[in-house]
Amino acid sequence: GGAGDPNILTLPEHSRTLGKPVVTHPYGQPSQYEANLQRRESPGLTRVGAASVSFTPLQGLFGIITPSGLHFERHHQGWHDIDPAKHRFMINGLVKNPKVYTMDDLMRMPSVSRMHFIECGANTAMEWGNVAVPSVQYSHGMLSCSEFTGVPLSVLLDDCGYDKRRARVVLAEGADGSSMTRTISLERALDDVIVAWAMNGEMLRPEHGYPLRLVVPGVQGVSWVKWLRRIEVGDQPYAAKDEALHYIDALPDGTFRQYTSIQECKSVITTPSAGQRLLDTGYYNITGLAWSGRGKVKRVDVSVDGGRNWRTARLETPLLSKCLTRFNIDWDWNGAPAVLQSRAIDETGYVQPKINELRAVRGTRSIYHNNAIQSWQVAQSGEVSNVQVY
Ligand code: MTE
Repeated sequence: GGAGDPNILTLPEHSRTLGKPVVTHPYGQPSQYEANLQRRESPGLTRVGAASVSFTPLQGLFGIITPSGLHFERHHQGWHDIDPAKHRFMINGLVKNPKVYTMDDLMRMPSVSRMHFIECGANTAMEWGNVAVPSVQYSHGMLSCSEFTGVPLSVLLDDCGYDKRRARVVLAEGADGSSMTRTISLERALDDVIVAWAMNGEMLRPEHGYPLRLVVPGVQGVSWVKWLRRIEVGDQPYAAKDEALHYIDALPDGTFRQYTSIQECKSVITTPSAGQRLLDTGYYNITGLAWSGRGKVKRVDVSVDGGRNWRTARLETPLLSKCLTRFNIDWDWNGAPAVLQSRAIDETGYVQPKINELRAVRGTRSIYHNNAIQSWQVAQSGEVSNVQVY
């Protein structure tokens, strides 16, 4: 018996008084009790905040859509809130009619809305050599997923009459001080690339490129040029600084790979994950995210014994191409130490590799494209930590 739960026995204030009126917040805010759910910077990662990264708190999110205010940020020269009335977008190079568009011009054109993940090529970068970070927010939080709305780049390239005989690539350029430029193959540009102004039903947030950004489904975040001001049509890759010197992969033989833009199939358990603690033995819903830059996720397997045995998880709908997929699986924790892992397989048949398999091919000096299976160790105390299992 005892005194009973006062939260049930005492009628709370909010059941006896008038609540706040409509439009208290003309643009709504999360509950004050959710204040711990934040994008976070990794101390010591970069020297200045303006050219740095903040991570999405994957451990606190549900489903597949990232709330716009929690979408990770990566800026090379800080962000700006650009006046859309003054923003211009230009297409030049191998086109019959080079054009300059205003936002009004663009937003009158036929638009599409598509759900896609964006993952920075450097996501999970710190873990190439060894365990380095304490939570899924830092190990996998350069990852977000949204619905993007804009005009297909193919429509704009047609509008300018691109040179069908000579055009091989496009170069995308941002309007910030970083002179961010990236080469994209013409084939991809004509396929599913979007010149987008909206994210999750609202205009892009300034941190994510307001009023215009490129959406390059399946490709590493760096190609999703923000504050997009220009597309140049060309006949060969441009070897710009952010593709010739940066965003290249160090290989074991001392050479570097360039233009490895696809984000290969990957998954991670978001709960339970490092930094969390299981309160008691018994039932848990293991949940996480899977994605592939090559299409749809076909299957996700989950192991609770460090990869010896695997069970197939439930995939939640929608199951979209180049989009996050949420998986769930039941687990009864008996109180013994456990190692939780997820392994995703995409529609091409590609299987997410173990960290030692990836290291055998890629070495340990890379920064980008670490899509290894992630291991979380559950201790007898219930505490969950980041470990590497071979
Ligand atoms: N575009 C411009 N113009 N300037 C930038 O610094 N950063 C790139 C890309 N586009 C960047 C940019 C990188 S490295 C990534 S990972 C994504 O934007 C991050 O997008 P987000 O900040 O919306 O998450």
